[in-house]
Amino acid sequence: MKQLVRAGFLSAANAAYLLARPSVFRRSAQQTHHDMLQLLRRADGQPGLLALLDAVHRLAFERAPVTAGGVALDYPFILAAGLVKGDGFESEAAALAAVQRGANIMPGWASMPRLVGPVEFGSFTRRPRVGNPGTVTWRDVPARSTQNRVGLRNPGAHAAAAFLAMRKRDLPAQFGINVAVSPGVDDPGRPAQEVREALAAFVERGICPAWFTLNLSCPNTEDDPNGNQAAAEARQICGAAVDAVRPAPLWVKLGPALAEEQYRALMAVFAEVGVRAVVATNTLPAPTPDDSGQTAGVGGGRLHMHAVEAVRRLHRVQAEHGYPVDIIACGGIQDGATYNDFARLGVRAVQYWSGLVYRGPLAAALIAREAG
Ligand SMILES: Cc1cc2nc3c(=O)[nH]c(=O)nc-3n(C[C@H](O)[C@H](O)[C@H](O)COP(=O)(O)O)c2cc1C
Repeated sequence: MKQLVRAGFLSAANAAYLLARPSVFRRSAQQTHHDMLQLLRRADGQPGLLALLDAVHRLAFERAPVTAGGVALDYPFILAAGLVKGDGFESEAAALAAVQRGANIMPGWASMPRLVGPVEFGSFTRRPRVGNPGTVTWRDVPARSTQNRVGLRNPGAHAAAAFLAMRKRDLPAQFGINVAVSPGVDDPGRPAQEVREALAAFVERGICPAWFTLNLSCPNTEDDPNGNQAAAEARQICGAAVDAVRPAPLWVKLGPALAEEQYRALMAVFAEVGVRAVVATNTLPAPTPDDSGQTAGVGGGRLHMHAVEAVRRLHRVQAEHGYPVDIIACGGIQDGATYNDFARLGVRAVQYWSGLVYRGPLAAALIAREAG
């Protein structure tokens, strides 16, 4: 009976989103993103609305426990980093002042987990960033893709941690925190130090997410994203990060376009330093629709086969060596078929972002049902 009600509810929700989508898509991706964050900002503070989101969640989602990357997840679907990441600030002082004023600097922190289950918050960097100016998000509807060069806009690890610490009692049961290597830091040893400090900001305030993810692969900043994904740099940064979050598990997020040998070398490093999972993958850099000289990270349909190939390579290395490093797939998961492309490779948990745009807020529940 419960199954029938769920199936009916999801069919109706799917039909409603398909009807609403043309008007959503009449607005630019950037405007929609902005509007959505404003909506979430208000929803976070409204108990009645949060209770309604809980009810929708219970109706739409069926618990499907799975253990991956050292975490016992209630569902195999995690909303990927980049939606609940907070506002950008010019300085740490300004960000901390906003937290002290009681401003909601992290729209979605309460409402999104209520609606969709596990969410990865971030990426947060050691210091705040305002991100890139101008148009920074696009969609490519025929290819069901997104593209962004948000550039790690975020309030910085200290303000994010202070914000969450003030709401400890209301934090979701299951969430992750994603910390990115600070762009533009070239001194040897400095990236590891900044990552350690960023992670410590959460740990020292008693914020206990189910996992931390280290984003080694942001393609949308002034950094060369490949630099931190070289084995020697990764060993130093990941070793520092594993130590900083212990006993919480550390996951590492990689890009989709690394050579087989690079994935091989990185998996060996992860096994050596105690990384529990690889999130594969981040977005794929490509020219933007507005300026062929400018690149931005592609997610969704145009990323999917690249991410599948990356997971295939990582899985091969993992199986050959028996590394205790799980693979959390991410890239173009928008329906049962795209989910199953990863499930067939032995993946037990996935992350998604663009699915929200093309399938709506209950994307994960719809995909779970289609995957069977
Ligand atoms: C607007 C936007 C912002 C993002 N910001 C981040 C981020 O801050 N950190 C991160 O690790 N990934 C970020 N991502 C990448 C997603 O987490 C995900 O890896 C990527 O979109 C691929 O998944 P998808 O194909 O389901 O979209 C962002 C993606 C989008 C669309």
